[in-house]
Amino acid sequence: MPLDAKILENFKERRKKVLEGGGAEKAKKRHDKGLMTARERLMYLFQQDTFQEIGAYIKHKCTSFGMEKEDYPGDGIVSGTGYVDGRQVTAFSQDFTVLGGSLGNMHARRMVQGMDYALKNGTPLVGIADSGGARIQEGVDALSGYGEVFYRNVILSGVVPQISIIAGPCAGGAAYSPALTDYIIMTKSNAQLFITGPQVIKAVTGREVSMEEVGGAIMHATVSGNVHFVAEDDRHALDITKQLLSYLPSNNSDDPPHRPTPAVSMGEDTGMDKLVESDPSAPMNMRAILLRLVDNNEFLEVHAGFAKNMIVGFGRVEGVVVGFLANNSMEKAGCLDIDSSDKGARFIRFCNAFNIPITTLVDVPGFLPGIEQERGGIIRHGAKMLFAYSGATVPKITMLLRKSYGGAYLAMCSQDLGADVVYAWPTAEVAVMGADGAVNILYRNELKNAEDAAKRRAELVAEYRAEFASPYLAAARGYVTDIIDPSRTRSILSMTLRKLLNKRELRPPKKHGNIPL
Ligand code: HXC
Repeated sequence: MPLDAKILENFKERRKKVLEGGGAEKAKKRHDKGLMTARERLMYLFQQDTFQEIGAYIKHKCTSFGMEKEDYPGDGIVSGTGYVDGRQVTAFSQDFTVLGGSLGNMHARRMVQGMDYALKNGTPLVGIADSGGARIQEGVDALSGYGEVFYRNVILSGVVPQISIIAGPCAGGAAYSPALTDYIIMTKSNAQLFITGPQVIKAVTGREVSMEEVGGAIMHATVSGNVHFVAEDDRHALDITKQLLSYLPSNNSDDPPHRPTPAVSMGEDTGMDKLVESDPSAPMNMRAILLRLVDNNEFLEVHAGFAKNMIVGFGRVEGVVVGFLANNSMEKAGCLDIDSSDKGARFIRFCNAFNIPITTLVDVPGFLPGIEQERGGIIRHGAKMLFAYSGATVPKITMLLRKSYGGAYLAMCSQDLGADVVYAWPTAEVAVMGADGAVNILYRNELKNAEDAAKRRAELVAEYRAEFASPYLAAARGYVTDIIDPSRTRSILSMTLRKLLNKRELRPPKKHGNIPL
């Protein structure tokens, strides 16, 4: 018997409802505000005709507050898999037009099914948050849904890359799912991310604060460090997602998408010489140096607005994907402090989890001195850098460009922390501390009694600099693999990366280390 037309009609009607979400009127409201619908966001993310839905017909099972009579298409979420630049990605997108995208138990089930799919099939996971939070009507069942999602975020962590986009409200405990993922991209307007909002803060503390101050994208990208990328709007957030994915492997057993050129070009880049700054008191333009090292000046900076004394991000060097960390002497003289240590350590751990070689560009005068730093736990936070670098088994290339002082020199992946290769520019100063500080300590008594203390001090500083503030002593002791001409940095880095790509390093088995948190 041929397919009954009524069955087909019924199916089409149901499908239409699912595709419409909260309906044309609510969709129009979003468009009027310059927002995309949940489904439009996914359609923009995925290549045309590659999206396949997971759990399209899922329905809530709540029987309180008259909910049993209500039908909510897709239960406030769209989820499925598709292709981005030819590689499979799993994604979910909360649908604010359906019950404010609130998370009920079946809504969470749909998310979890996507997460399980991503885990089993080794695909990156992209989650787009736009939700009023726990669905009040579902009470503890909604809470349980969050719990299941958090649990999956942790299971997926380090297995597949997880990227969150905050494109609407994401409040209360809901904020912890994105926080458990690898990267958070947040839109400038329409998005809020907070545990307790202005009203609760006012009620509990009496202090009036704006939504921007508590949960806006700029605050999170510059102060709290919760957000890695700020997007102008929905489209921009999805473009950043695609750009980020272009550097990442699909999962931890894949290599990142290297596109090595057939041969390494060993030419000179004399433009680099102009960026070398040998006056130790002048800042050096590290960002400009980085841009000369990567292909086509393309560098995807991560966390650009947070802890600006450390630059981290992805680039390719003659096609090979690299995670870069670099001290930025234009901010806080490039010191390591609490925030930059957190930023750097997290980035190192991500690169290591996903087989991305690390290149470290060093120009560090030390750890930032100060009571706030000590009381804030710089020891604990700085230790994260040591822990992350020492624990990383991916290829590690360190380039000492200028200041490389004391504990911060070690914390920027010295040879002792497992750097496979350490190159130094002739301008590198590898020393226990800067010349001024060293002279102050070594010659305190002599300077106290000197007739012309300033003159004597200058002589001693010059002597110390000549003797110790160079890479040659460190190279003589075997701590530096080679001293290189700055103009050949890119070609040497490129050749070294190629040679290290098959590096394998085994460590004693254990459940996991105990990173200082
Ligand atoms: C059920 C919800 C909802 C929720 C919104 N809606 N949030 N329904 N549970 N949590 C519904 C609204 O009733 C409305 O339904 C529709 O979604 C759109 O919401 P509006 O309020 O009209 O939109 P807007 O003015 O843009 O305001 C958005 C909002 C606001 C700021 C998100 O809705 C809001 O404050 N919602 C409640 C937020 C909240 O307190 N969530 C619970 C947090 S506790 P109709 O039918 O009118 O269209 C939590 C614990 C998680 O999340 C713990 C995890 C560990």
